[in-house]
Amino acid sequence: MATSPASSRPVPDRITLTQPDDWHLHLRDGAHLAAVLPETARRFARAIVMPNLRPPVTTTDMASDYRERILAARPAGSRFEPLMTLYLTDRTTPQEIERAAASGFVKAVKYYPAGATTNSDSGVTAVERAMPALEAMQRCGVPLLVHGEVTDAAVDVFDRERVFVERVLAPLVARLPGLRVVCEHITTSDAAHFVLESGPGIAATLTPQHLLYNRNAIFAGGLRPHYYCLPVLKREEHRKVLVECATSGNPKFFLGTDSAPHARHTKEADCGCAGCYNALGALEFYAEVFEAEGALDRLEAFASHHGADFYGLPRNSGTVTLVRERWTLPAELPYGDDTLVPLRAGGELGWRLL
Ligand code: DOR
Ligand code: ZN
Repeated sequence: MATSPASSRPVPDRITLTQPDDWHLHLRDGAHLAAVLPETARRFARAIVMPNLRPPVTTTDMASDYRERILAARPAGSRFEPLMTLYLTDRTTPQEIERAAASGFVKAVKYYPAGATTNSDSGVTAVERAMPALEAMQRCGVPLLVHGEVTDAAVDVFDRERVFVERVLAPLVARLPGLRVVCEHITTSDAAHFVLESGPGIAATLTPQHLLYNRNAIFAGGLRPHYYCLPVLKREEHRKVLVECATSGNPKFFLGTDSAPHARHTKEADCGCAGCYNALGALEFYAEVFEAEGALDRLEAFASHHGADFYGLPRNSGTVTLVRERWTLPAELPYGDDTLVPLRAGGELGWRLL
């Protein structure tokens, strides 16, 4: 047994959890998919797979094809289950939503404001345009997954989430009170409070990087592109609120890594891509956060129960075990013909997945 820094209560050297799921994941395609899928499939039984490919996954047929490619890329013996999403556009029809809802394998629809992030050019230009699809989602019980940032160039990058909540999300939720919404990868106390104060149909995912780091990480001794993701890391006061939410036991908050691999050269560039690759060590990063709060006993609910319950899916029956053991994350990994730099590359983790 070791001692928890937050509470000086004894904490275990080994924890066994119901197998968790990742409720927000980028798997990419082709050789990149094959490179990153095994790390996720080792830890998680299922994952909500983001649709921001090129071209984006806008139809149920495209989601079906992508799902087949993911299944084919699984390591031998893996029973990892991809849960598919559609990419909402100004032209998504209610009929397409009905097809998705009837498919059984499309579990949600992702809202990217056009231009907000990686491969979001086909996203929604004004929420009004997507209203027929959003109404159909409310009717069919299909959750909306929101990348909550305004794209207004006049709004400071660090305020884009707060302004999105005020200008877009709060009015949308008021207009469609039956729509189930997951505020993805929230980064601010503003978004956290919005979720806390909303009804049970409004939830949020939290990433390892937003729980572990504040925006200083992007500028520590020089520019650190591997700590750049969107929404961008925020001030420490926001991080503290996110950690409170994650470790509180509130079922509105659950695990979503937003693991978003980009080839090294595309991040270490003139105009570097946004995204942190955290699938390697994903569960271990969360364990570090919960341990620092003296809340390891709440990790299982956050990682393995709340998301499944929100999506109305059964909790997993298998288990995973984490042991207290220091290990060093690699400096880089193969990524098809490229290489990939994981979150905290070359640094240490204090928990290891058995
Ligand atoms: O940092 C990010 N990377 N944020 C997103 O919203 C998209 C993601 C990606 O696909 O690379
Ligand atoms: Zn994402």
